[in-house]
Amino acid sequence: MKKTIDEKFLWGGSSAAFQIEGGWDADGREPSVLDTKIDIPKNITDFKVASDHYHHWKEDIKWMSEAGFKSYRFSISWSRVWSFKNNAPNKPGIKFYNDVIDELIKYKIEPIITMYHFDLPDHLQQQGGWLSRATIDEFERYAKLLVETFGKKVKYWLTINEQNMMSLVPEALYGKKAIMKETYQSNHHMFLAQAKAIKIVHQLSDSLVGPAPNINSIYPNSNKPEDYLAAINFANIRNWYYLDVPVFGRYNEIVLDLLAKNNSMFDIKEGDMDILSDPLSKPDFIAFNYYTTATVKAWDLSEDDSSNSSVKSDQQSLFGIKNWFQRIDNSNLPKTQFQWEIDPLGFKTTMLELTTKYHLPLLLTENGIAALEQLDENNEINDQYRIDFYTAHLKQMFEAMEMGVDLIGFNPWSAIDLVSSHQGMLKRYGFIFVNRTDDNLKDMKRYPKKSFYWYKEVIKTNGKNI
Ligand code: BG6
Repeated sequence: MKKTIDEKFLWGGSSAAFQIEGGWDADGREPSVLDTKIDIPKNITDFKVASDHYHHWKEDIKWMSEAGFKSYRFSISWSRVWSFKNNAPNKPGIKFYNDVIDELIKYKIEPIITMYHFDLPDHLQQQGGWLSRATIDEFERYAKLLVETFGKKVKYWLTINEQNMMSLVPEALYGKKAIMKETYQSNHHMFLAQAKAIKIVHQLSDSLVGPAPNINSIYPNSNKPEDYLAAINFANIRNWYYLDVPVFGRYNEIVLDLLAKNNSMFDIKEGDMDILSDPLSKPDFIAFNYYTTATVKAWDLSEDDSSNSSVKSDQQSLFGIKNWFQRIDNSNLPKTQFQWEIDPLGFKTTMLELTTKYHLPLLLTENGIAALEQLDENNEINDQYRIDFYTAHLKQMFEAMEMGVDLIGFNPWSAIDLVSSHQGMLKRYGFIFVNRTDDNLKDMKRYPKKSFYWYKEVIKTNGKNI
């Protein structure tokens, strides 16, 4: 059935605590794994100051309201609200998020909150991180704290941001390569933690909750059957594994086969599958991040080249898994300055695939284009490329909705400029420019870009002029 955009549609923008907040050790906050990361390249900033949202939150929310945002998707920093030193909630951290939420509500902006966006408390990492089952209990306690503390004011929760990217490209996000068995053991623990968190939201509140993986269509490089098989493999490894578990409460066969063939099957303890398939742990919607599609072909590298098999640089460029698939550029698509392919039609196909596989409402929690940007002599940023990028994606979004995709909101990345997950402040995504660079904190002043005014009009008119 055709879906239309109405007043309830959640037009907004997105961010993540470690990339926007700064104040990394303020008011009792303890370090996360991103604060203790040591391999950040020399000329790239760390996350200690970021966009200093911790001290500019009022102003930033005012800008969001000025743009007409109906929603703001952001994450809570676990390390800010819980003190492992004191084994107790960190009151100033809780106050910070209460203030942010209240301010959003004052402007009629719906908070959409991610519980965990890459920033595991370092204390937990030291105890084994996600490889340890104790982290599941810690996450359960944390989720309970969040829902008990903020649950009345927050209607939309997201559990874990991009569990798939944390697993598939840990070297990009954390500077570490992974061992397949350990990755999937950690994944299993994250799934259990997520199932428990979803159940908590359902038991303790009337709010809605969903996972937030990065999902995109996978194209075969040719009509060779071997390439199509590679596409099926990668789609299951990258996408469906991460949704089959929360939505259906069971593991994806193709990925289990990959693990078995690589001697990497993880341990499932008695009772685990009951936790994963508990009806109270089924998500109410699927949040997803979409930046681009991926193209793959059958693996054709020699034994020698394949020692490279798990190397690669970032979220969109995972290289391949020996004998399963090999990533390849798509020559039909233009690229951003940071070499991510631009594929608006892929946005539609991704939504169609998600809808026909899982039949749940969808919520777009990231989409955007990064660019190198500097204020011009009038203190302006003429980011027409961002307007063009979003215009093309929104056209496809409307078409997908016409075809019956139940999309409840569009929250692109990022509401304001923030520090990229691994490429610093150079790589900007925001509707609002933040005046700092990687090596100079300058005055942190905010300047709306051209796209800010364009997006404001889109929201006001519900996209009628797209
Ligand atoms: C997503 C993440 O993978 O992509 C964000 O959820 C990230 O945290 C975004 O910032 C853009 O990626 P990057 O690496 O360009 O910052």
